[in-house]
Order: sequence, then structure tokens, then C-alpha cells
Amino acid sequence: MTNSHDVKIIPSVLPADFSRLGQECTDLESAGVDAIQFDVMDGQFVPNLTFGADTIASVRDKVSVEFEAHLMIETPDQFIQNFVDAGCQTLIVHAEACAHLHRTIHKIKEAGAKAGVALNPHTPIEMVENVAVDLDMLLVMTVNPGFGGQKYIELGPKLDKARALSNATSNFEIEVDGGINAETIKHAAAHGANMFISGSTLYKHPEGLAACVKELREAAEASIDLTHGTDPSCC
Ligand code: DX5
Repeated sequence: MTNSHDVKIIPSVLPADFSRLGQECTDLESAGVDAIQFDVMDGQFVPNLTFGADTIASVRDKVSVEFEAHLMIETPDQFIQNFVDAGCQTLIVHAEACAHLHRTIHKIKEAGAKAGVALNPHTPIEMVENVAVDLDMLLVMTVNPGFGGQKYIELGPKLDKARALSNATSNFEIEVDGGINAETIKHAAAHGANMFISGSTLYKHPEGLAACVKELREAAEASIDLTHGTDPSCC
């Protein structure tokens, strides 16, 4: 069981130069990231289109860090094996796209990957209450999915409930994605998140990737508070 108290700084490659994606991944690993997240978009579930499993497979052997596939797609069940075969250790599906979420989570685990579920900002934590025991991680979106560079949406009470649910069930990790910078990461960490996705902040940092990873990690570690989950009244 992964300790859901470890701070993890994970880049989204959405802002990367796709013409040199392999080198971009190597640079990220050298900068000290804990994993790399690939934002897979189908133009249906979200109003944007990115890449599929083959693109991820093409860079798998460039680095040794774990890969997460954030599947912002309408039919994730259809592609579970493709993304596992491409070398992803974690698959993250959107609860809003899964009519049979319990079955989807088990299909991911049977394929040998860790199972993550993502919730759009409007979707309540209750959506995953009945599958929490099977979760390896929960992604609380802090922007509406589809694009990088958006403003962080403060979801403190929702994160508190997620942490309480984690502490009461499988101790699943809690990830936030969208608008994460040196300030907003403090808010998310203080409300129980331990995994942090960053795209634009990482790629725009004036001192480069490694300095940004260090700054984000220090800010999260100084602010993280996993005690919210001990108060049963919070969920
Ligand atoms: C939205 C994407 C973004 C991206 C991070 O669908 O998932 O959240 O990964 O973007 P930034 O860090 O630029 O907000």
C-alpha cells in the first residue's frame, strides 16, 4: 500500500514540446518529478484532443519514473489494456464517464495497473463513496478539464471529505490537478491532498524545472495536513 502521506510532484506534459517529447520526459525525470502524467483527451468528454496510447508508448523507455494516464475520454473501458501495454502504472478514469465504475476500476486492477478516479469540480465526493475501498487514488480536479493554464478553483471542503473518506477506507492517495502553483499548492495540501499535478507553472518557471519542482515540494510539505479525515463530521 502506497503511503498516501508522501508528497508527490507530478508534471502534466500538456505544455511540453511534443516534437521532442522523449527529451522532455528525460528533462522532467532529471528535475526530480515523482511520476509523469499524460492528459489523454478525445474531443468528446472534453473540448480538446491530444494523444493516445501509442504516443505514451513511444517515450516509455526514455525514463524510469511511473506514468499516469489521465483519461478524459468518453469510453475508458475500451482502452484500459492499450494504456497498460503502453507502460502506464496508473490509469485515471472520470466517474462522470463510467456507467459501471466499480467494474471499470476492477478491469484496471485486473490489467495490472493502479486504479484512479477523477471528479470534475462540480461532482461530489459521494460519487465514489461506494468504490472507495477499491481506489488507489482519487483525482480532485481543481479546474474544468480540457486545458492547461486555468485558474485554481478552491475546493477545500471537498478535499476535506476526500481525505476523511480515504482515512476511513483504503487510505487512497489524493491528487489535485489544475492551477497548481507555489500558493495554491499550500491550500490543496492543507486540505489533505498529497499528489500535485502541474503543467503551466512548471514550464513557465523562470528558474527552470528542477527549481520549480523543489519550490512546489517544499510548499506542499510545509502545508500538508492529513488530520481533516479524523473528524467524522466533515463527511
Ligand atoms: C486539464 C489538464 C490540466 C493540466 C495542468 O484537463 O489536466 O489541469 O494537466 O494544467 P495547469 O497546471 O497548467 O493548470
